[in-house]
Amino acid sequence: MIRPAEADDGPAIAALERAAFGSDAWSDALVFEGLGGQIPGALYLVATGDPVERRSSVEPVETTVVGYAAASLFADVAELQRIAVAPTERRAGVASALLERIEEEARLRYSERLLLEVREDNAAACAFYAARGFRELDRRPRYYADGTTAVVLAKDLPS
Ligand SMILES: CC(C)(COP(=O)(O)OP(=O)(O)OC[C@H]1O[C@@H](n2cnc3c(N)ncnc32)[C@H](O)[C@@H]1OP(=O)(O)O)[C@@H](O)C(=O)NCCC(=O)NCCS
Repeated sequence: MIRPAEADDGPAIAALERAAFGSDAWSDALVFEGLGGQIPGALYLVATGDPVERRSSVEPVETTVVGYAAASLFADVAELQRIAVAPTERRAGVASALLERIEEEARLRYSERLLLEVREDNAAACAFYAARGFRELDRRPRYYADGTTAVVLAKDLPS
């Protein structure tokens, strides 16, 4: 299930952020600030489900956050800033569902395209975005702290 993130999701999102992005991760404080509604246009979504390792349990299990996405939807400019899925839950369509919802929200705000940056060495993310209709717009050399180039991708959003 995809739903807007709530303040209580902060620790789970911050943990996924650290696991997915390592030294590029947002600080916990930044994650909590975004969830607190203090950043204009910030939209956080979470994907919840039964984690793989508990799916065979005979006991009832609580659903948990298995992925999240953060976007900046400010006026008609839409940027996908983060999307990450727990390693055990990948290749099951979770990120696709999150992205679809971000695109819907962006269209509702009259955005005509969705922009993002991805590390050029992030093969999984590059393949994901290519499969979801993004195309390369630009490259930013030495964009990341370790000197890696960022690829700027865009996807047109039909109204
Ligand atoms: C990139 C990421 C978000 C994809 O999440 P996901 O839930 O596994 O993606 P989906 O299951 O919706 O994948 C949809 C399609 O994207 C492509 N794709 C996703 N991961 C891929 C991989 N590792 N290798 C090749 N193609 C991949 C495939 O076409 C896939 O369809 P398929 O499984 O039918 O082949 C996930 O790998 C992740 O969290 N990575 C770490 C964080 C990150 O790098 N985020 C992006 C930063 S810009």
